[in-house]
Amino acid sequence: MANPETIVVIGAGVIGLSTASCIQQRLSPSQSVLLVAREFPSDESINYASPWAGAHYRPVPGSSPQVLREANQAERTYQYLKRVAADEPAAGIKFVKGVEYLEAPPAEYSDPQSLRNVYASVDGFRLLARDELPVGVKWGTEYGTWVINSPVYCAHMLRKFIVRGGQTKKYTLANMKEAFSLAQNVRTVVNCSGMGFEDPESFIIRGQTCLVRNPVSATITRQNTDGSWSFCIPRPLDGGTIIGGTKQSHEWDPNPSLDIRTRLLANASKWFPFAPESGGQFDVIRDIVGRRPARQGGMRMEVEKLADGKNIVHAYGAGGRGFEISWGVAEDTAGMMLENGLLQARAVL
Ligand SMILES: Cc1cc2nc3c(=O)[nH]c(=O)nc-3n(C[C@H](O)[C@H](O)[C@H](O)COP(=O)(O)OP(=O)(O)OC[C@H]3O[C@@H](n4cnc5c(N)ncnc54)[C@H](O)[C@@H]3O)c2cc1C
Ligand SMILES: *[C@@H]1O[C@H](CO)[C@@H](O)[C@H](O)[C@H]1NC(C)=O
Ligand SMILES: *[C@@H]1O[C@H](CO)[C@@H](O)[C@H](O)[C@H]1NC(C)=O
Repeated sequence: MANPETIVVIGAGVIGLSTASCIQQRLSPSQSVLLVAREFPSDESINYASPWAGAHYRPVPGSSPQVLREANQAERTYQYLKRVAADEPAAGIKFVKGVEYLEAPPAEYSDPQSLRNVYASVDGFRLLARDELPVGVKWGTEYGTWVINSPVYCAHMLRKFIVRGGQTKKYTLANMKEAFSLAQNVRTVVNCSGMGFEDPESFIIRGQTCLVRNPVSATITRQNTDGSWSFCIPRPLDGGTIIGGTKQSHEWDPNPSLDIRTRLLANASKWFPFAPESGGQFDVIRDIVGRRPARQGGMRMEVEKLADGKNIVHAYGAGGRGFEISWGVAEDTAGMMLENGLLQARAVL
């Protein structure tokens, strides 16, 4: 047998977990995977985005390279999560009705090609007729989509990774290159560290939401005239409902604002079909504040070749769409590794 080699994956958010699991299916017999992270599922930290996500899938129309790349990754993730939802009920994924109401739709919503690019692949997509739209809404659609209980899904992915032979290590790296010294014979480090701090293109988008006990059966998103978004996302497996949410670029405040909570809930009670028994009142579990790890132009996905045949494979900066594109990103990252001879060509399932 060849000299044993360890592939180190940095980051145990949805991107690192998906990528580690995808790599695991393509290892040669002499390779193994070590997942290294400062935070793992069940840890709570403002700089660990994944457990704070809603999360649901809402296609984003357009025709920029970033939109098209993400649309393709989101499409593969949708198909993948369909299989997971059917085969692994403990994963915390459910397919439900998705509804969108836009008060001030951007130009791409009136371009049929832009819409087709992203909505053609979701089940049961249809535009709502004018007489189906609530007052004030200019554009609406309905389709089948998934909602995910993000902390449950991350814990599930980690459990699967470990059962299949993956190793883990809780560790804070001071420098990415330090990862090459964490195990014997590390040739490849995969950088799924989310937000980071060395990349001038990276920035955060603060999100404040509120987790409530009130159930709702669909995920509904409404864009307000002022450009703000209101949404409700039921979390499968009795996880409550997420009411959101703000998108505040470069805003670092770690504390929830009571004023924002009050306005989020007031909007939700106006627009979303909670049971009449609740009388417009919400039973709050907690406020949530998270930081979406965004990046100018979208994710950095590339293989950086260092001296001595070492490689860093970058996959970070998923912004507000980490769950939506997770499996596509994982496949593309494994694909880049394959092209560079860092993984074995044939999938071992
Ligand atoms: C309020 C809110 C709502 C959202 N809703 C949605 C949604 O509906 N749909 C959707 O798809 N997405 C949503 N998102 C976005 C989603 O949460 C992110 O895109 C996703 O979690 C990013 O995953 P990641 O793995 O890249 O980063 P993270 O989850 O942040 O993980 C980063 C990992 O890297 C590790 N790490 C970082 N630095 C170091 C270091 N120096 N040493 C060791 N380890 C390190 C961390 O410990 C962690 O394990 C939402 C986000 C927020 C905040
Ligand atoms: C790894 O990713 C982070 C983003 O999380 C980035 O800031 C950093 O520059 C990357 N590391 C290296 C060595 O490029
Ligand atoms: C609530 O809705 C109004 C529009 O009716 C909007 O201006 C405001 O930004 C929304 N508030 C929040 C916190 O989303």
